[in-house]
Amino acid sequence: MTIKISGTGSALPEKILTNKDLEQMVETSDAWISERTGIKERHIAEEDSVASLSAEACRRALSDAGKTAEEVDLILLATCSPEMLLPCSACQVQSAIGAKNAVAFDINAACSGFLFALQTAHAYIVSGMYRNALIIGAEVLSKIVDWEDRGTCVLFGDGAGAVFVEASEDDHTGIQSMTAGSDGSRGGVLYCRERAVDYKDAFENEGIHICMNGGEVYKFAVRQVPDCIEKALTKIDLTPGDIDLFVLHQANLRIIEAIAKRLHVGMEHFPYNVDRVGNTSSAAIPLLLDELNKSGKIQKGQLLVLSGFGAGLTYGACVVRW
Ligand code: COA
Repeated sequence: MTIKISGTGSALPEKILTNKDLEQMVETSDAWISERTGIKERHIAEEDSVASLSAEACRRALSDAGKTAEEVDLILLATCSPEMLLPCSACQVQSAIGAKNAVAFDINAACSGFLFALQTAHAYIVSGMYRNALIIGAEVLSKIVDWEDRGTCVLFGDGAGAVFVEASEDDHTGIQSMTAGSDGSRGGVLYCRERAVDYKDAFENEGIHICMNGGEVYKFAVRQVPDCIEKALTKIDLTPGDIDLFVLHQANLRIIEAIAKRLHVGMEHFPYNVDRVGNTSSAAIPLLLDELNKSGKIQKGQLLVLSGFGAGLTYGACVVRW
């Protein structure tokens, strides 16, 4: 038995912050950001929260799947930037959409969070404990970014993506193979110890916003992601050449290009939206998946690889037949 994705949805805050806008805030340039990252603009939440963006993404995913909120058994919300410690964002979403029969909780594995949540839902559904789940990746990273640090503030954006998954009657449709890994010994290359209560305090306390050794994260990503994709494919006797679309974590276009090169696959198989949304951490994969699904760029029967990496360090891959 396996699980399949029957609906997708997403939500982005209205406000767009361009590279040109950032030139007015820190010593940077559109040319530097574009060349190093491929990012042109990102969405920034003003009134929206992780919970409100997630609720909207879930409503759209449920509508796409033709399901009602009351039919949902499980809500897993991956985030590393919730507004509140308690209650968890998943419970806020449950209340907002009226999924009164669901069990709801959050998962934090940073940018790998959505993949880890998808794998958790797979385990729950295949075990027979639940029949279906809403899996969400959502972030409001703008609230934990240091807007005076040009090395990080140009990279991130806000948004939410969701998928509705359910047991698949046909083993050949849905998740075919999975890998995941963590290396806690390297947690120091990307971290945020706590978030500021009064945001102004953030600039006086090292570690209260996202701190990153960009070079180390870059090296980790271009080595680890192709590795775990190869492992997930080998398990089911496939090679990168068999895959129609690689839906990767959208951290940086250069990282995506380096991964494509290592896998010996052309960039036409690596769709991206990082230019328009930046790095939205756990929201990146479901945001892109929804964009591809709604624009008809994924055909039934196609093979997809979903793969990501992030703080932890964490990484994972799923092979999915649509
Ligand atoms: N604008 C202009 N200059 C900048 C800048 C910015 N926004 N950010 C950094 N610089 C400067 C640095 O201060 C440095 O200047 P120096 O040579 O005078 O010291 C120079 O640009 C080069 O910095 P460096 O960090 O070596 O650049 P890089 O080529 O490694 O690119 C990243 C930086 C962050 C784009 C790159 O390391 C990267 O993509 N890392 C992965 C990050 C990531 O994806 N994180 C999220 C993981 S989920």
